[in-house]
Amino acid sequence: MARHLITSALPYINGIKHLGNMVGSMLPADVYARYLRQTGRETLYICATDEHGTPAELGAKEAGLPVAEFCAQQHDAQKAVYDGFGLAFDHFGRSSSPENIEITQHFARKLNENGFIEERAIRQVFSITDDRFLPDRYIVGTCPHCGYDKARGDQCENCTRVLDPTDLIDARSAISGSSDLEVRETKHLFLLQSKLAHEVEAWVDEHGTDWPVLSSSIARKWLTEGLHDRAITRDLDWGVPVPADTWPELAAEGKVFYVWFDAPVEYLGATKEWADQDPDHRDWKSWWYEATDVRYTQFMGKDNVPFHTVMFPATELGTREPWKKVDYVKAFNWLNYYGGKFSTSQKRGVFTGDALEILPADYWRYFMMANAPESDDTSFTWELFSATVNKDLADVLGNFVNRVLSFSRKRFGDDVPAGSEAGEAEAALGREIAELLAEYECQMEALQFRKAAQALRALWSAGNAYLETKAPWLEIKSDPDAAALTLRTAMNLIHLYAVVSEPFIPASAAAMRGAFELADDNATWVTSDEAKSLSFVPAGTPFTVPPVLFAKITEEDLESFRERFGAGDGDA
Ligand code: 2FM
Ligand code: ZN
Repeated sequence: MARHLITSALPYINGIKHLGNMVGSMLPADVYARYLRQTGRETLYICATDEHGTPAELGAKEAGLPVAEFCAQQHDAQKAVYDGFGLAFDHFGRSSSPENIEITQHFARKLNENGFIEERAIRQVFSITDDRFLPDRYIVGTCPHCGYDKARGDQCENCTRVLDPTDLIDARSAISGSSDLEVRETKHLFLLQSKLAHEVEAWVDEHGTDWPVLSSSIARKWLTEGLHDRAITRDLDWGVPVPADTWPELAAEGKVFYVWFDAPVEYLGATKEWADQDPDHRDWKSWWYEATDVRYTQFMGKDNVPFHTVMFPATELGTREPWKKVDYVKAFNWLNYYGGKFSTSQKRGVFTGDALEILPADYWRYFMMANAPESDDTSFTWELFSATVNKDLADVLGNFVNRVLSFSRKRFGDDVPAGSEAGEAEAALGREIAELLAEYECQMEALQFRKAAQALRALWSAGNAYLETKAPWLEIKSDPDAAALTLRTAMNLIHLYAVVSEPFIPASAAAMRGAFELADDNATWVTSDEAKSLSFVPAGTPFTVPPVLFAKITEEDLESFRERFGAGDGDA
C-alpha cells in the first residue's frame, strides 16, 4: 500500500493569515491527512513558514525587528494559531532551517553540474530614492496583460501571470512609492528553464491527466506561454546563501536564492527537520528519493499552481536525481469577503487568529470545507456563515446528539439502554448509513471536499430522520423497549458520527466520542458492516451528556461580528 506524503503551500512568514489562505491550503490538507490516517494509510503531512524573500524583509521592517528575530516570533505566532485550528501537521518547519539551506544548495549545485544554471549579467531596477536594488516584489505597477494596477514585479495577483519587473507599466518602488528608478547592471544566477521545457511538458502530459482542471489548465497555460530562463538569486540580506564553493564571487557579494527557489525545497527540508528531531521517524530521504511507494499530494491556492506544476518540477528534473515529484495537485479558487478580496496587506476580511477569538475552530473548519472554493470563487459572508453553523452544526448534528443523550438519561439512566432487538427500521437505517458512508469515502478519496461535507451532513440528517420517524418520546408511552432500541441505535449513530466526522470537526468529534465510556474504543474508522449493524456501542455502556456541542449564532452575535470585521466594506 502506498504511503501518503502531503504538503500544503507554505504560508509567508509575515503576519497571521486570513481564512482565504487557510481554506486553500492547510485546512483541506489537514482534513485529507486526518482521513488517510484514520483509514489506516501511513501519512506524513508537512508544512512550514516561508521565511525568505521580500515578505520577511518588509514584515521585519514594519515591526522594527532584525529579520531573524521577526521570523522566529512570527513562526511561533502562526504555529499557535494552527494548533488552535487543530491542524495536525507531522511537522511544521521553517524554510530558514539549516536543513533547507543544505538541500537548496545541493539542488543548485546539481543543476549547475548538469548545465541548467548560468551566471548572467543583468540589468536590474535600482531605486535612487531607496538607494538599493529593488527585488521583484518591491516594484509595483500596471499588469501588461490584464491592466490590474497593483501588479507586483514577480506576479500579477489578478490574472496570475508571472511577470518580470520590467514588464510593468508605470513601475514604482513599493518601499517609497518613488518612480525615480533606474536600471543598473549586476550578476545573477539563472535557471535555464527553457532547456527543461520539453521535459516538463512531457512530465505534465504523463502525470497531469488526473489533476483537477484548475491545476492542469494553469499548468498548460504556463507551458503554452513558454518556459523562460529565470533569475534565481537576489540582492537581499536574508535568504539561502549562494554556495561559495560553486559561485565564490556571487557568494562574496552576498547574493541569496530567490524565495521561490528555496520555498518548495523546504517541503524536503521540513521533512528532514522532522526526521532530525526524532530517531523514530523514518529517514526523510525515503519519502523523497527513489520514493516509488509514495503518493504525493500538494494543496495550494491557484496563484501557487505555476510554481508547483512547472517551475519546481523543472528544478527537480534538472538535478538528474530521482526526487519525488507531485502526483496530485489540489488547487483552490479564492474565498472572497463579500465579493471582494481578503487582503493581508489591507487587513480586510477575517484573520485566523481573530476567528478563533470569537468561535471554536470546528465552526470555521466545517464552514470552510462545506463552502470550499473548489469549482469557483466563493464568498464569505457572516450571513452564510451563521446559516451554515446554525443549520448543519447546531440543528442537525448538535441537537441530535443532545436530544438523544439527554432523553435517554432522563428515561433510562446513565447507561445505554438495551430494549428490543433491532427490527426492519434499524436494518433500513443501517443500509442507508452504509450507503452514505460509501459516498462520503468516495468524495474524500477524490478530494472533493464540498461534496464530502455534503455527504457527511447527509449522514447526520439520516439520524434525525430516523429519530423523527421512530419518535421515542411517543414510543416511551406505549412500548418503553421500543424507545430504548431507538435510543440505543441513535447512540450508535452518535459514535459513528464521532469517528467519521473527525477529519472535519476533530474537537467536537472527540467530545462526542468521549460521551461513551467504552472499555476499549479503538475504532479508527467504520466498515460497511459496522455501519449496517450499528452495534459498536453495546447496551450497558455508561455515558454522559456532553455540554452543548454547537451554540447557535444569534442576531446580536451577527451584529457584533459585522461591526468588528466591517462586513462588506470596500466591496470590489
Ligand atoms: O504564496 C505563498 O503564500 C507562498 N508563500 C507559497 C509557497 S509554497 C512553497 F512552494 F513553498
Ligand atoms: Zn494581470
